[in-house]
Amino acid sequence: MTYYLTLGNVEEFPKGPPRAFTIGDVEVAIVNGGKSFYAFSNICTHRFERLQDGFVEDDNIVCAYHEAIYDMKTGEPVEGPTVDPLSVYQVRVENGEVQLAWPTEVAVAEVQHEAGYVGD
Ligand code: FES
Repeated sequence: MTYYLTLGNVEEFPKGPPRAFTIGDVEVAIVNGGKSFYAFSNICTHRFERLQDGFVEDDNIVCAYHEAIYDMKTGEPVEGPTVDPLSVYQVRVENGEVQLAWPTEVAVAEVQHEAGYVGD
């Protein structure tokens, strides 16, 4: 069974910058790409920094730390220092709400953290 977890109203997701949520113990980044929404792992596969600090270029998310570039639709790396893809998730807009498809009903919370480079 698929559950649809409400993350907020569409107006709370300005076009461009990612917002991140914990879904149980998984971090998921949500991007309003203008024409569609994207949902993918918030954790870069290079050195595990948060992609919510990154920036959007067309259908891609660019990691702020070492500039890995991923296709937000597929999670596949397009360029940069990693070959490992991101997990991607189904997201929809229903009755003005942004909803994430998830296999279980779990608690959702927004990821709060101080942006800042901590790697080497
Ligand atoms: S941590 Fe994202 S590119 Fe290095």
